[in-house]
Parts: sequence; structure tokens; C-alpha cells
Amino acid sequence: MFIIKLNAIDSTNSFLKRLSSKEVVKDFTVAITKYQTKGRGQMGSLWSSQDSKNLMFSVFKDIHNTKIEDNFYISMVVAASILEALEAFKIKNLKVKWPNDILSEEKKIGGILIENVIKQSNISASIIGIGININQTIFDNLPQASSMRLISGRVYDLDEVLHLILKKLKQNFRLLNQKQFGIIKNAYENHLFRKDKPSTFRDSEGELFSGFIKGVSDSGNLQVLVEDNIITEFDLKAVTLLY
Ligand code: BTN
Repeated sequence: MFIIKLNAIDSTNSFLKRLSSKEVVKDFTVAITKYQTKGRGQMGSLWSSQDSKNLMFSVFKDIHNTKIEDNFYISMVVAASILEALEAFKIKNLKVKWPNDILSEEKKIGGILIENVIKQSNISASIIGIGININQTIFDNLPQASSMRLISGRVYDLDEVLHLILKKLKQNFRLLNQKQFGIIKNAYENHLFRKDKPSTFRDSEGELFSGFIKGVSDSGNLQVLVEDNIITEFDLKAVTLLY
């Protein structure tokens, strides 16, 4: 496995994207940095992180074996791998808030940004960006953010956490190659935040409604049990879970 270590960069995802447009990048190449000047989050948001306190890295993953319709399994593999790794560091009450926020004690300690590399109109690879708040203790104006250190009171070695996450990613991508979809979905749904609990959501028109999260579909939609015992599926733009 190649690991490219950078002191600072705009974004490790952008770095790998640029690299792959210029040269052939090997499967599982990792770019990691101490600091990002333009860290990016989901849905066009920013991802900010103090210098040298947290993990910010991206993994270039060849996915030519995975069908486009199975794309969400990549997300599930990544979330499950992070949860398994952080569990080993005794981080309590770990959950994944659909689709891929990593929570501990109901606070966000990590995020995932997966971007596809398109070549000749096909997805040839995914760039999997992972940010985990490890030793940072101050999060200005982010009341729902936390870190492994704030949760456990311990200081962590960033490299140790990185290597365990990479090991779990390798193991779980092997499951995906073997098409073990049931095992992957179980690992994800077993940690799904607010599963089977009464929850409030906001729909795309701003209306609030309540329901019980039951799981996710193969395409990554959230399945919610709403009134009259009906299970409705929502995509990311259609619903926000309020908590
Ligand atoms: C989210 O919004 O929750 C996703 C955050 C993903 C952040 C990581 S940090 C490393 C990689 N590079 C980026 O610019 N973003 C991802």
C-alpha cells in the first residue's frame, strides 16, 4: 500500500483526484495530511480541522468490480470499517447517522466524503475521504461536534488509528468483492443511529413528520416506518433527521 504524507494540502480528496487525472494510481493508495486549507464535506459543506490534531485522509479505491447500482455498499463498507476500528479504541456508543456521519455519544466525531472518478463515462474508482476528530478539544460554533479525546479523555496516536482503519477497510472491501452484501448491510444497520426509535424528520418542503428508521435500501435510501404502518423510502435530498 502506498501512503503519501503531506504537511498541508487543499483537500486530500482533491489531491488524489488531480493525481488520478495525470497518472495511473494504484488501488488503495492513501493520501494523508496534517492540515487542509479547503477541506470538503458532504453536500458542498466545508470540513475544518485543527492542524495535526485529527485524521484527514483519502483512499483511492479501484471499484471496477462493483456495479453502479451497488454504489451505496461502498459507503456501508467504509462506515462499518471506521466503526469497527474506533470500537477497538474503546470509543463508546458508536453509531452511523445515515448516510455516513460517524457519531459517538450522539455527537459527530467523523465524516466520509466519497467521490467517483469517471473514465470514459464509467465509474472506474472511488476516492474515499475520511475525517476523524481525534485529539481536538475545541469546536467553535459546532455544538454537535466532538472528538475521540473529548469522549474518552485519552490522547491518541493518529498513525495507530489510521492503520487500524486501513486494515478494516481492506478486510471489508474483500467482503464486497466476494459479494457478501448481507454481512455488509448488517454491519451498517446494526449501528444505524435511531434505528427503531421514534424520530422526527423534516421533508424537502420543510414539513415535520415522525417515524421509525427501519434500515436502508440497496440503493442507499433511508427506510422509515411512517403512519399507517407504511415503510417509505427517502433519498438524501428528501429528508433530514432532527436530533
Ligand atoms: C462530512 O461532511 O461529514 C464529510 C467530511 C469528510 C472530510 C474528509 S477529510 C479528508 C478528505 N478530504 C476532504 O476534503 N474531505 C475528506
